[in-house]
Amino acid sequence: MTETAIIVVAAGSGTRLGRGVPKAFATVAGAPILEHALRGLAAVDARLLVVVPAGLEADASAIAERAGVAAHVVVGGATRADSVAAGLAAVGDARWVLVHDAARALTPAAQVERVIAALREGASAVVPVLPVVDTVRSVEAARHSEGDVLGPIVDRAALRAMQTPQGFDAALLRRAYAAADAMGASTDDAQLVQALGEPVAAVRGDELAFKITTAADADRAESLLGPAIRVGIGADVHAFGGDGPLRLAGLEWEGPGLEGHSDGDAVCHAIVDALLGAAGLGDIGSLVGVDDPQHAGAHGEVFVRAAVARLAEHGWRPMNVAVQVLGVRPRIGSRRDEAQRALSAMVGAPVSVSGTTTDGLGAIGRGEGVQAVATALIRR
Ligand code: CTP
Ligand code: MG
Repeated sequence: MTETAIIVVAAGSGTRLGRGVPKAFATVAGAPILEHALRGLAAVDARLLVVVPAGLEADASAIAERAGVAAHVVVGGATRADSVAAGLAAVGDARWVLVHDAARALTPAAQVERVIAALREGASAVVPVLPVVDTVRSVEAARHSEGDVLGPIVDRAALRAMQTPQGFDAALLRRAYAAADAMGASTDDAQLVQALGEPVAAVRGDELAFKITTAADADRAESLLGPAIRVGIGADVHAFGGDGPLRLAGLEWEGPGLEGHSDGDAVCHAIVDALLGAAGLGDIGSLVGVDDPQHAGAHGEVFVRAAVARLAEHGWRPMNVAVQVLGVRPRIGSRRDEAQRALSAMVGAPVSVSGTTTDGLGAIGRGEGVQAVATALIRR
């Protein structure tokens, strides 16, 4: 049995965000809020259940796949408590259940781990909390508007803001929800457990686990996640003199080949560096197994596809790539369309190829080798 299940509630309508789509499906930094939330849970050892509005089950599955997680999709209810209950009914035999707001999309995995660790150490209900930073006052006539009549200041040192995931012994949470049927909707699961007279432990929360509620929160998430489009550059040079045939831009050409541990395809290698560089994921040397004996003579395509897969693991996909080949031979123009087709298929996005000579200058100009320079544009 899986020890831990995480119910990610994502069935809210997002009224306060006001995007006109259920909040978890609204785009922030190039991806739905739910995708960011699930990506943050990918490294956690737990079964994931995602609770979504009816009709969005297939979208939720596609989002989970893009986030690189396996998630069981459940249809939610009218209130957050209804949605948690729907998730709880589908949890199965997990020992611990965490309930997490999809809207807390930037929650660090370390926070999730702190909650799980507290459960392992014996707590049966755990909540991540943050100190309250603002001076807080109660209101005598609560109208939730500027017309409120202010009461006394509440000592903020005695206050904590609740975050998620909140973690529970599964049986205890079931009992709390069964008892809560009569109590109406709650937006805090620990409160229901506390109503049973059970203690609730606190662990440290994180400012990054803030809940995306309003447009200003979405802007903050957007800036924390960084730009959704990035550019990268890569270059490579190989000398003529290899044993094999000439391989360049994913094609085989007439004449002697290029040197290199792999097939010496400088075009593919430059593309790999441009893609990895754009995503901030290092260069071809950091792709597993480039120097591996099993990759002796490997075609450039192997590395390009590995780079695209590495990007996907980190939530990036290529938009387009442009490569320029410097050299005396081969003549790129003669097979440009073929090269572009081959490279586009590898990258999964349009690749354009141009060729130029160096007017006879330098080693490249003397025909001693081939140089390639690539730029890549990628999106989150
Ligand atoms: N939630 C849910 N089912 C509901 C209501 C809320 O699963 N019927 C989830 C939301 O998707 C969110 C979390 O509970 O991840 C916290 O709720 P909230 O921030 O209030 O989200 P919304 O209810 O969508 O937003 P709003 O209140 O502005 O409509
Ligand atoms: Mg709500």
